[in-house]
Amino acid sequence: MIREICRMGHPVLRLKAEEISPEFLLSDEFRQLVVDMRDSMKHYGGIGIAAPQIGVSLQTAIIELGPTNRFGEQVSLPFTVFVNPQLEFLTDESQGFWEGCLSVPGLRGFVERPKKLKINFLSETGEEKEIIAEGFLATVIQHELDHLFGVLYVDRIKDLSLLSYQEEYDEFLSGKEEELE
Ligand code: NI
Repeated sequence: MIREICRMGHPVLRLKAEEISPEFLLSDEFRQLVVDMRDSMKHYGGIGIAAPQIGVSLQTAIIELGPTNRFGEQVSLPFTVFVNPQLEFLTDESQGFWEGCLSVPGLRGFVERPKKLKINFLSETGEEKEIIAEGFLATVIQHELDHLFGVLYVDRIKDLSLLSYQEEYDEFLSGKEEELE
């Protein structure tokens, strides 16, 4: 079922989401949550969504990144469910991308984040997984998982002159990141 997206200002986006218990992970309720998240992500045209964005303060996020994503980046990740993730940064180097968020509609902002990280998490069937991500995928994963800890990308913008409406981004700022690095 397509659910309404909570937007910036909604308190649920600022909570640290609760860890998911092994029992809940195997429940029909959890399965339905993942279905709703996927339906909502596809409906609103996102590449990822976190449970708090549909008003559920639990540590689950999903990402599905096709090679023809709206960010024009040539990376992909098949549909992945992240439960109770733990992040470990593997470099001090950072990289910047223009980010957007379903909870902050109509805006884009330039965010610098660590370039490479390791994520340990449980899959939707409770399997222990590990992903090492770099480049744009590292940014996408950090953005989504931030939602589980009450953080929005706008919190991480260092230079607020690099926060823009989508139309003005397209007109004036698109492609500017190369100059910034
Ligand atoms: Ni987001």
